[in-house]
Amino acid sequence: MLGGRMYRPVRALALAAAAGRAARLFSTARRLAAADKFYVTQPIFYVNSVPHIGHFYTIVLADAIKRYADLRGKATKLSAGTDEHGLKIQQAADKAGEEPLAFCTRFSDRFRALMGAANASNTDFIRTSEPRHREAVARFWRELVDRGHIYKGEHSGWYAVSDEAFYTEGQVEERVDPATGERKRFAIESGQPVEWVSEVNYKFRLSAFRDRLIAWIEESHDAIYPEIRRNEVLAWLRDGLEDLSVSRPRSRLRWGIPVPGDDQHTVYVWVDALINYATVDGYPWSDGGGATQRFFPPDVQVVGKDIVRFHAVYWPALLMAAGLPLPKRILAHAHWTMGAQKMSKSKGNVADPFDAIAQYGVDPIRYFILRNGGIANDGDYSPAEVLVRYKKDLVGQLANLAARCLSASLGADLGAFAAIGRQQQQDQRAVAPGDEHVRRVLLELPQRVGACFDKCELGRGMALVFDALADANRYMTDEQPWVLAKSADGKTQARLQVVLYYTLETVRLAAIMLQPAMPGKAAQLLDHLAVRRAERQWQHACFGAGWQSSPLPQPLPGAAQLFPKL
Ligand code: MSP
Repeated sequence: MLGGRMYRPVRALALAAAAGRAARLFSTARRLAAADKFYVTQPIFYVNSVPHIGHFYTIVLADAIKRYADLRGKATKLSAGTDEHGLKIQQAADKAGEEPLAFCTRFSDRFRALMGAANASNTDFIRTSEPRHREAVARFWRELVDRGHIYKGEHSGWYAVSDEAFYTEGQVEERVDPATGERKRFAIESGQPVEWVSEVNYKFRLSAFRDRLIAWIEESHDAIYPEIRRNEVLAWLRDGLEDLSVSRPRSRLRWGIPVPGDDQHTVYVWVDALINYATVDGYPWSDGGGATQRFFPPDVQVVGKDIVRFHAVYWPALLMAAGLPLPKRILAHAHWTMGAQKMSKSKGNVADPFDAIAQYGVDPIRYFILRNGGIANDGDYSPAEVLVRYKKDLVGQLANLAARCLSASLGADLGAFAAIGRQQQQDQRAVAPGDEHVRRVLLELPQRVGACFDKCELGRGMALVFDALADANRYMTDEQPWVLAKSADGKTQARLQVVLYYTLETVRLAAIMLQPAMPGKAAQLLDHLAVRRAERQWQHACFGAGWQSSPLPQPLPGAAQLFPKL
């Protein structure tokens, strides 16, 4: 079947040896990978308002990174939850005339529902009002006290309730409040109003960690990503660090965790919130270690660019002080705007993720948000752009290519694909000139996409996948398999199968690599391609590694319906 003008004889021995090498490589990779753990965290959400599309982005980005680690064969953990204490929530509950806990439950449930609607594969969902967290925070605090990092002192500064953060004189500016016309002070960094506070607080010796923080960031280049955020943090640190106020008087803040041994003070909400990343892993690991169960420290901590200071300065300093290991990477993503403006309820430019999911389907909106969402640069959300991605990429490239090459009239012979794949992968002389480009693309694609995904640049990686799909669609148009299918000639039929092999191989690789973004649709697509469940790991996204098992399941008809007309 594979003989003829374009094909040189296949050297069976060399092939068998190569196949054996590949099989050994795969099994080694699986053995090593199984021992690896990968812990991804999401920021925990404030429960003073309902989720918007920016929150959905954080959720999906963290989920896709975790799912990619799954595909790489890691044992994974993905944390999520809600940040329920602090003045901001206390004031919002008071305003609503509700008990804080009942108020928090209502909003926390909305975030939990969004996790489900977004198909997030989080392994935990923590509420900071839970007893397990209260215990973890108390233990962490005592650890800081025992190690001499906490003292009591006078603290004065500008407090922004919205940010739950103190600012120094140099970090605020005076300007007219557009809402009232009065002159007021605002935090320069966040634009939020501030109020002058002077009180006796517990303080954390943050300033003592400045040099160690700088050394950490300089030594581990990946610790803060992207570069723009890394430089920002280094600049803050080089500018100098003051000690951090880590409690508020109980009289001002009653909704929070009491300072151990001094119930006249409440633990500062950011210290409380950051510790969630340890709580969900069982901190203080008092069960005797459970070192084999432990995932800490996180491999990737996903945060928005507005909360970098808390995660890249305070959090690592607190961990150093408590004698705990540091996160391997803080991934600070950019924001979503709407109409090129910051989303805000008062401006009415907030997109509801539940509506978007209902309208486009969960996987298409996940794809859009990851593809158009920025890591370094803000993305602008618009329904028109979602539709463009849906029509051009998902329908026009992905479903179209799958439907064309799986059409019954072309008769793809999946049973022949394993042999065609081996030959096309390993024997350059068997490759027809017209196939060279698509072959090279497929050979390089997994490594190129993997390099992007490794950096958490999901959008860039998927752009490469869709470029490959566009190449394969063009290739199909050039090679006209529907003309080849009309011929009864054996060589023409063999050629037809090679063309179908290249196009279906492109769809197979694409579907495997799109699983982190579109877990549902990618799985359906792989069902259409008759790819076995055990052959959907990243290692199988390798040109020539598909359709190995025998007997093969049957391809499913109807791939064109995967992304129905909206
Ligand atoms: N509770 C803190 C996080 C504590 S983590 C220990 C918090 N909560 S938040 O609800 O205000 O924000 C949660 C996440 O959503 C943050 O990472 C934030 O950057 C992100 N986003 C909020 N608005 C956003 C956009 N408009 N666009 C993208 N992400 C945005 O901060």
